[in-house]
Amino acid sequence: MQIIKSIDSLRQTLAPLAKEGKRIGLVPTMGALHEGHGALIKASVSECDVTVVSVFLNPIQFGKNEDLDKYPKRLEADAKLAESIGADFVFAPSVQEMYPDGDPMTLVRDEQLESMYCGAYRPGHFRGVLTVVSKLFLISGANDAFFGEKDYQQVFLIEKMVKDLNFNIKIHRVKIVREESGLARSSRNEYLTDEERAQALGIYNGLKAAKVAYEAGERSVSKIRDTVVKSIVAARGVVQYVEVASQKTLQKCNGALGDEKAVILAAAFFGKTRLIDNMELN
Ligand code: PAJ
Repeated sequence: MQIIKSIDSLRQTLAPLAKEGKRIGLVPTMGALHEGHGALIKASVSECDVTVVSVFLNPIQFGKNEDLDKYPKRLEADAKLAESIGADFVFAPSVQEMYPDGDPMTLVRDEQLESMYCGAYRPGHFRGVLTVVSKLFLISGANDAFFGEKDYQQVFLIEKMVKDLNFNIKIHRVKIVREESGLARSSRNEYLTDEERAQALGIYNGLKAAKVAYEAGERSVSKIRDTVVKSIVAARGVVQYVEVASQKTLQKCNGALGDEKAVILAAAFFGKTRLIDNMELN
C-alpha cells in the first residue's frame, strides 16, 4: 500500500492501471477512519481491481465556527486500517495541493437542496462537498466511488450531480454502520464524553421507535417526527432538525405518507457535538 500526496503522481500511478483495463474504486474520506469507512473500503475492494482511499480534510466544506481545527487527524493509522482491508493507495494531498490558489473560484453546487436539512444549518457545506468530490473524481479517473448512507443528503446530492453533469462514474451506496448500541459510527463520536455518548442513543432510539410505529401503520408525518424529537429531548439532546423526506426527491413530506418511500433525517447536539442519523421507512 502506497501513500500518494501529489495529484500528478496519483495520475501517473493510476493511468497505466486504467489502460490495462483495471477497474478503479475511489473511497473519499476526511480521515479518522472507523468501521463505517471500513465498510466502504471493503465494498470497493470486493467490486474493483484497485482501491484508492482519499484522506483529505476539506476546508471549504466547513463553516467558520465549525470543527475544522479540532477534527481528528491520524494519517498513519488511517493508512494502516485502509491497508488491512485491502486498499491499494491512500491519496492524502495537502490543502495547498488541492487549492493552490486559495479558495476555488469555480464551485459545484445544487440549486435545490443545498439550503435544506443539514444545508440550512451549514451554509456553503454542500457546495464544498460537491466541489471536492468533483475534483477527486477528475483527479482519480475512478470508475466507481463509494459513499455511506450515514450522510444521506450528501450521497443523494452526489448521485444527482453525477447524473446532471454526466460524470462517467458509478456511485455505490453503503448502509450505515452502527456501534453495538445502535449509535451510527462517526469520526465526531470521539468528541463525546461517556455521558453524552449514552445520551446520543436518543437519536437512534427515536428513529427506531418511529420506524416501528410506521410499520404498525402510522402515516402521520408530524407524529413520526414527534416520536424522534421526543426521544432526543428525553435523552437531553438538542434537536437541530427532524424531517421526513421522499427517498426519491429528498423533498419534505407533509401530512400523511402515501406510497412513496420516505426517510427520516435528523440532526441533534449532544453537548457541543453535532450528530446526524437517518432511517428509511420501507
Ligand atoms: P467522512 O465524514 O470522512 O465520510 C467519508 C464517507 O464515509 C462518507 O461517504 C460517509 O457517508 C461514510 N461514512 C461515515 N460514517 C459512516 C457509517 N457509520 N456508516 C456508513 N458510512 C459511513 O463525508 C465525508 O467524509 C466528506 O464530506 C467527503 C465526502 C469525503 C468530502 O469531503
